[in-house]
Amino acid sequence: MAHQSEELIIEALDVHKSFGDLEILKGISLQVRRGEVVVLIGASGSGKTTFIRCINLLEDIQSGRIRVNGQPMGYRERADGRLVRDSERNIARQRRDIGMVFQRFNLFAHMTALENIIEAPIHVLGVSREAALIQGRELLARVGLADKAAHYPSMLSGGQQQRVAIARALAMKPKAMLFDEPTSALDPETVGEVLQVMKELAEDGMTMVVVTHEMGFAREVADRVVVLDQGELIEQGPPEQIFSRPTHPRTQAFLSRVL
Ligand SMILES: Nc1ncnc2c1ncn2[C@@H]1O[C@H](COP(=O)(O)OP(=O)(O)OP(=O)(O)O)[C@@H](O)[C@H]1O
Ligand SMILES: [Mg+2]
Repeated sequence: MAHQSEELIIEALDVHKSFGDLEILKGISLQVRRGEVVVLIGASGSGKTTFIRCINLLEDIQSGRIRVNGQPMGYRERADGRLVRDSERNIARQRRDIGMVFQRFNLFAHMTALENIIEAPIHVLGVSREAALIQGRELLARVGLADKAAHYPSMLSGGQQQRVAIARALAMKPKAMLFDEPTSALDPETVGEVLQVMKELAEDGMTMVVVTHEMGFAREVADRVVVLDQGELIEQGPPEQIFSRPTHPRTQAFLSRVL
């Protein structure tokens, strides 16, 4: 959106990923600038989930480079330029820079909405309970759930749980947020409230990579739409270009199925 800068927050360079003998990502390169909203689309099995899991080091890659905020993810570059795998401790620290929101919310069932949000800031970042509670309430208000602090996940709708999951990710003050089909497990009537929260996040300048089938959201909020097909990035551009004048025949075929 309007807040984009030239600073690269996420850089993937020629990322290859295989499961066994099967090459799932065949050399993906993507750069995301600070404040940019990138929507990833593509057919089922094209590698969208795998790619964003690689960004966050939830998957090992076979070759290529991933940098977040200028730092190589998972590897240290030695003085001679060789890559060595980083310590788990450093990897865990790097992961904190990236908030992830999945299709399934994975909230702690035995904790209230507010407790879910303050857990990691207190135990991972070492924030005081008082400060975490203040921030947690602010975040709940930001996602429109100020009155649900004491509710357990089972007392919340799917859309409300997903908004708590977004607030929980934001509590770690991430440099970027990755979303993997955040609304596809929701009842249709709660999809809009989650997309609205994501739109506001984008307007506030958050750097976001969003896998979604919500083409309305992509059109309205994305700065750039990226199309994956069979493990390759086949096309990218502003939403109006991708949706109105796609150049790759496989983009056209995909869009004709989903639009
Ligand atoms: N852990 C795994 N082991 C083996 N194969 C896997 C694994 N995870 C994903 N795959 C395969 O990798 C390919 C890409 O899967 P991925 O989940 O990234 O696709 P996707 O684009 O997210 O699809 P969808 O739109 O259905 O979510 C698929 O063929 C899938 O079967
Ligand atoms: Mg997926």
